[in-house]
Amino acid sequence: MNIGKLNVLRNLVAAMTVCLSATSVAQPKGFNYDEAKVPQFELPRLLTMSDGTPVESASQWTAVRRPEVLALFEEHVFGTAPPSLPRLRIRLRSQVDDALNGLAIRREITVFFSDDDSGPQMDILVYTPAAATGPVPCFLGLNFKGNHTIEADPAIHLPMIASPPGKEPPLAQAKDSERGTRAGRWPAAMIVEAGFGLATIYYGDIDPDFHDDFQNGIHSLWPDQQGADRPANAGGSIAAWTWGLSRALDVLEGDRLVDGRRVAVFGHSRLGKTSLWAGATDPRFQLVISNDSGCGGAALSRRRFGETVARINTVFPHWFCRNHRQYNDNENAMPVDHHMLIALAAPRAVYVASAEKDQWADPRGEMLSLFHAGPVFKLFDRQGLPSDVMPQIDQPVHTDVGYHIRTGRHDVTSFDWQQYLNFAKQTLR
Ligand code: GCU
Repeated sequence: MNIGKLNVLRNLVAAMTVCLSATSVAQPKGFNYDEAKVPQFELPRLLTMSDGTPVESASQWTAVRRPEVLALFEEHVFGTAPPSLPRLRIRLRSQVDDALNGLAIRREITVFFSDDDSGPQMDILVYTPAAATGPVPCFLGLNFKGNHTIEADPAIHLPMIASPPGKEPPLAQAKDSERGTRAGRWPAAMIVEAGFGLATIYYGDIDPDFHDDFQNGIHSLWPDQQGADRPANAGGSIAAWTWGLSRALDVLEGDRLVDGRRVAVFGHSRLGKTSLWAGATDPRFQLVISNDSGCGGAALSRRRFGETVARINTVFPHWFCRNHRQYNDNENAMPVDHHMLIALAAPRAVYVASAEKDQWADPRGEMLSLFHAGPVFKLFDRQGLPSDVMPQIDQPVHTDVGYHIRTGRHDVTSFDWQQYLNFAKQTLR
């Protein structure tokens, strides 16, 4: 066979491997993807207090039922937040006034979580419009691979990346070659041109995403909360990442280029579960965006469509609190379901987005959660989703909440961002 044919064959095999792995990631075998096989279930009652009293007003929701639901999620799902810190130290690592071809001011702000400069810390990468005449509304979200992957900018600091036990080296600087590799998910220029800021943090700065019994990242600050015998309601990594988002908001609140009262928290996938929990625990976030968050995020657990509670707790034992494992293959015993997580953001704006090929995340279950959170929005005279019928693909529905299901797979695309920008223009006024 000649070299040309060999290369064609190689490319074909490579393409098939990519396709296969994309399918297997999107739809692992042995799980239900058939709507007809979704079990019958009853959702826990959102508007009934624990003593049986119906919730009839916004003030009853705020004073009684909301704290109850929040406490249930803390106890049974995400776990308690890490303790608060006496103070944060911040340092401007860099500032460039003509980033993104002159469109943006780009800063890196280091936040130290202790008095030790080599202790746990995170870098917030912030873009704000160069043309802004005052503080701007801003999107804040964690990223998976490091701030340097957001833009192919040689000056962005390369983070240290921790590896799971057994993988060498345990800590290594990220590679130059990765710069800008995730730019497609973070259209900074488009966001800044629309008049918004964009702030992002590498999630591994807060807590590296593997199970080490809660020793590294910010967990190193609290030795009494480490180890296998930590309390069953102690927060896992999602609670830690959420805590990091709130600390970033502390910093943005004091920033002169960002309007800390108009911050949207955004996250994709496991980080969408995180943005929903951030919106629930920190009412300063004015808009909460869940992109393809699936099981443990926007999707209803009781549907057992795609990923299940048992699977997520087995493959990712560090994400939730230990109590959550009681509901492995036992979803109906959960005192909550995830429509209640979305309701915790009300009356603030919430956006849930799904992708057609992302069946693992259960698009219909994500939409239904938002729909069933509707009665809480109604208490505040806000309009939830008008119908529980799945909207057409690529046809966003925007009321006081937003939903879309777009063409394509589990990802963040410019279509997603275009909808978030349109919705934020209405809701982050
Ligand atoms: C896995 C996991 C999901 C998660 C996703 C991600 O697919 O099962 O729950 O949302 O990873 O974060 O990329």
